[in-house]
Amino acid sequence: MALIETRAPAPPAANGGATLTVRDDRTGQTYVLPIEDGAIRATDLHKIKATPDDEGLFTYDPGFMATAAVKSRITYIDGEKGILRYRGYPIEEVAERCGFLEVAYLLLNGELPTRDQLNAWIFDITHHTFIHENIKKYIDGFHHDAHPMGILMSTVAGLSTFYPEAKRIGEAPLRRRQIARLIAKMPTIAAFAYRHAVGLPYAYPDNDLSYAGNFLSMMWKTTELKYRPDPVLERALEILFILHADHEQNCSTSAVRVVGSSKVDPYSAAAAGVGALYGPLHGGANEQVLRMLEEIGSVSRVGEHIARVKRGELRLMGFGHRVYKSYDPRAKLIKKVADQVFAVTGRNPLLDIALELEKIALEDEYFVSHKLYPNVDFYSGLIYQAMGFPVEMFPVLFAIGRTPGWLAQWVEGLLDEDQKIARPRQIYLGPAERHLPG
Ligand code: CMC
Repeated sequence: MALIETRAPAPPAANGGATLTVRDDRTGQTYVLPIEDGAIRATDLHKIKATPDDEGLFTYDPGFMATAAVKSRITYIDGEKGILRYRGYPIEEVAERCGFLEVAYLLLNGELPTRDQLNAWIFDITHHTFIHENIKKYIDGFHHDAHPMGILMSTVAGLSTFYPEAKRIGEAPLRRRQIARLIAKMPTIAAFAYRHAVGLPYAYPDNDLSYAGNFLSMMWKTTELKYRPDPVLERALEILFILHADHEQNCSTSAVRVVGSSKVDPYSAAAAGVGALYGPLHGGANEQVLRMLEEIGSVSRVGEHIARVKRGELRLMGFGHRVYKSYDPRAKLIKKVADQVFAVTGRNPLLDIALELEKIALEDEYFVSHKLYPNVDFYSGLIYQAMGFPVEMFPVLFAIGRTPGWLAQWVEGLLDEDQKIARPRQIYLGPAERHLPG
């Protein structure tokens, strides 16, 4: 049965604060629940019982559509208005004026660094970029056609075995060291995963280069003594990392928080995040967008594709979002970056198909009524492809950018007095007690 709205007068709130009055029609009992920060506590509802031995009322919310699992001070999203802020700063300002490591510092520490703090932080990250030679051997063990996201996920998990002190999550200096290590090593592992697949020797980190520039060097360096990244592409990649750096309680961040709530080390928690990000509905979507554009093949076939989506045969990848019900602000910024990148690399021929898809979808009743707009993944893949990245690397690039966000959220969870081990409840619908035959 659907929720029924009635307009019964609300009784005055006992404590003067906002409340919700609930009448249990099974018992006739009325309950007044405090509303705090726009939410009621599910545990208050759980106190409502039909009979004294009843377990209490549960809330049923698959996919956490209306359940806030944490209180956070890191990232703010207003999905209706298309607003995204990191620690209060609008994403547009941050993307235009900050460096990626500066943003990572902001997410992790709550404030932008001073010049000295930033220099110390960059030095710290730069000096953790190398990986143990045994990790290299570990990567060597994967088949040549292993998906780099699978390699990334298991190698991140494997880091916990190289740094056993990471288990001591209660010690702030040790936590900071693992955070620096993981942010520093993600590009190295990512680039090594790529080079393993194509059979190229690994290119070691170059500590003279920026975070993004060093990653490009580890990806593309061949016989030259020093790789010099194109400054436009280097900055474009940095902006893409910034746009992906955090997005509050998305699927992978929630995975990190859930696994972290068991008090495991951060590498194991981050590996869970990589796993969640791998999925086609999350970070794997940018890979799916490219495959979809290639399959459509020409602007003339866009209408046919949209018709299939409307018939429910498939989804328009890179469209729709759980929170944004208007244009994803990151997608707007990415479109600008695309122009800068294509000026260097040449226009990606798939762009015309993407633009036509967007145009038709934004005018179409189905997409308008479902509030489906391009999300961050719609244009990012076109840029990555123009820069030379194979599609399998797209979610890996997302993971590099998202790592500071995962870690900031992991620490916030650990230090949160309200945090408890994540352990949802279920509504059991299986057989009642029965017995084996004979
Ligand atoms: N194409 C066609 N219809 C869609 C799409 C889409 N991309 N997304 C949602 N819908 C429809 C869906 O069929 C449903 O229709 P109805 O109510 O008539 O049954 C309605 O919109 C609501 O969809 P939902 O699946 O209940 O919404 P959700 O909030 O659970 O899903 C989503 C959000 C992002 C998983 C979904 O929009 C989707 O699958 N998009 C395509 C994959 C994608 O681009 N993912 C990247 C997300 S952004 C970055 C990230 O998180 O990694």
